Amino acid sequence: MQRLAEVDPDIAKALREEARRQHRNLELIASENFVSEAVLEALGSVMTNKYAEGYPGRRYYGGCEVVDVAEDLAIARAKELFGAEHANVQPHSGAQANMAVYFTVLKPGDLVLGPNLSHGGHLTAGSPVNYSGKFYAIVPYGVRRDTERIDLDEVRDLAKKHRPKLIIAGGSAFPRAIDFAPFGEIAREVDAMLMADIAHPAGLVAAGLHPSPVGIADFVTTTTHKTLRGPRGGMVMCAAKWAQGLDKTVMPGVQGGPLMHVIAAKAVAFREALQPAFRDYQRQIVANAKALAEALAGHGYRLVSGGTDTHLVLVDLGARGITGKDAQEALDRAWITVNKNTIPFETKSPMVTSGIRVGTPAVTTRGMGEPEMAEIARLIDRVLSKLGDASVEASVRGAVQELTSRFPLYPERTT
Ligand SMILES: Cc1ncc(COP(=O)(O)O)c(C=O)c1O
Repeated sequence: MQRLAEVDPDIAKALREEARRQHRNLELIASENFVSEAVLEALGSVMTNKYAEGYPGRRYYGGCEVVDVAEDLAIARAKELFGAEHANVQPHSGAQANMAVYFTVLKPGDLVLGPNLSHGGHLTAGSPVNYSGKFYAIVPYGVRRDTERIDLDEVRDLAKKHRPKLIIAGGSAFPRAIDFAPFGEIAREVDAMLMADIAHPAGLVAAGLHPSPVGIADFVTTTTHKTLRGPRGGMVMCAAKWAQGLDKTVMPGVQGGPLMHVIAAKAVAFREALQPAFRDYQRQIVANAKALAEALAGHGYRLVSGGTDTHLVLVDLGARGITGKDAQEALDRAWITVNKNTIPFETKSPMVTSGIRVGTPAVTTRGMGEPEMAEIARLIDRVLSKLGDASVEASVRGAVQELTSRFPLYPERTT
């Protein structure tokens, strides 16, 4: 950081402060993680300089022979990791990965059956403020009121009634594993295509700890930065028959030059994910989420669906008379980072919400285990039981700092 400090002391300071914040706080946002130094090195590399529109061996520009190596490795490793026939590693983000699938198989106005945002779906599955909701006719499906798990009967009934062209499975706030097999059956019954968005559980899927949609769904999209613990970015996998159409949609359809430094970093993260230690890491993420869920339930919190099979827990604060917004802000002041989240059958606005979503990928990367999850639940409870009490928040800040200092993060970047 010496050169950065000389050229731009303001940004150098901001980077150091962000590294310190990441080290000091308890990061419980379910969609975040901490990448390795190796991934960071690939990200901050000379590959950012290279224009490489096209695909390995078929680029529009010269001088791509070295970046081709990086992209070929990323593709080969992604295919090995998920057992996919084809992978496109160029989408700049998860939203663009999903856009690439929509634009490959749909025309504007086509009908899509997707998960309701307030029941756990993502914006890109048809929210009216997103391209998906603006370009396509969306029919949402949800979870059952009694179990708070996906209502497959409703999915089947809606599919038969509306005959969608595309069905989407997967989202941002489903604490329970999604079984893709029944989605595949329903899609075949109504002659629809199926897209599985595994942005959240991708690491668990790669480790064999969550059902895989590969071989069932026509398209599998993911981000690379959540449980998968790679750089911020997206990816689409599909059967060989869709490969050419998908690749054309990604570029030139929706993107220009690929971010070659990010693709190199994706290759590094996939290599890390292919090591046996990654499976142990994913197992610990799930064990930690279960431990956190049990401890929170032990403090009297109601959990959506009663618990978790994955890396995330959705806490309903309604019975406590607290909003998700107030909880997020109070926990922030205590250096515990979570996000407010709508819950199924939500009655409050998305800016207020009745719930918070907590996840374990980032704290597990730091090496925390079940005992720390019990401690984290205690700290959350202390803050939420005395909402807005500055002395409790100050005392919890101290406890958080003591806990996180035992699990150092990016030590060279904080000084
Ligand atoms: C299920 C799902 N799909 C897509 C996305 C979009 O990813 P990005 O933020 O990289 O555009 C997210 C992000 O949270 C997600 O949870």
